Amino acid sequence: VTRTKRYKNIFLIGFMGAGKSSVGKKLAKRLQMEFCDLDEAIEKGLGVTISEIFSRQGEDLFRDTESGMLRSLAQKSGQVIATGGGVVLREDNWEAMRKEGITIYLRAPVEVLWSRIKEDTSRPLLQVEDPLKGARELLSKRISLYEKADLIVDTENVSPEDVAEEIIKKLATFHPLGCRGKKEEHRF
Ligand code: S3P
Repeated sequence: VTRTKRYKNIFLIGFMGAGKSSVGKKLAKRLQMEFCDLDEAIEKGLGVTISEIFSRQGEDLFRDTESGMLRSLAQKSGQVIATGGGVVLREDNWEAMRKEGITIYLRAPVEVLWSRIKEDTSRPLLQVEDPLKGARELLSKRISLYEKADLIVDTENVSPEDVAEEIIKKLATFHPLGCRGKKEEHRF
């Protein structure tokens, strides 16, 4: 018998390279929930890549699209949702995530995140002259936002499978009542 509570949705948050998608897939399988990737849903829904949205419309309009898609995905229950690294920037997004599930921050030092993303050119915010410096600055601005998550899990030197296991263990002892007083909303 597992003591793991069944949450309406699980939102994985964290910087680019945190492992939100790879951990999310493992976690969804283990909990027999559906997996859903916010960036992928945006790209499929609009038929364009995230990079194209950034270059054609700019970051603000991307954020609007991201918020809209987050709200719409969150209506359904039983999903592990891998968000984009910037989802924490808007208070609206927090409202949606808190109402529709639990938030989990996948944490890693910037060097580790960087080693996971440096070969990948699909992230518009890192297409700058000194991307490591850019990542450092962006992360330092966002750390306090990521830390607003209900749970924090360290991912340095941990495989996606083991991060998923760690999340399941933490979920088993997490009491949303003590945290936000909305216990029922976290159940299916
Ligand atoms: C972004 C992260 C990306 C993507 C977009 C913006 C960010 O998602 O949403 O490039 O602001 O950190 P990943 O975290 O999945 O790379």
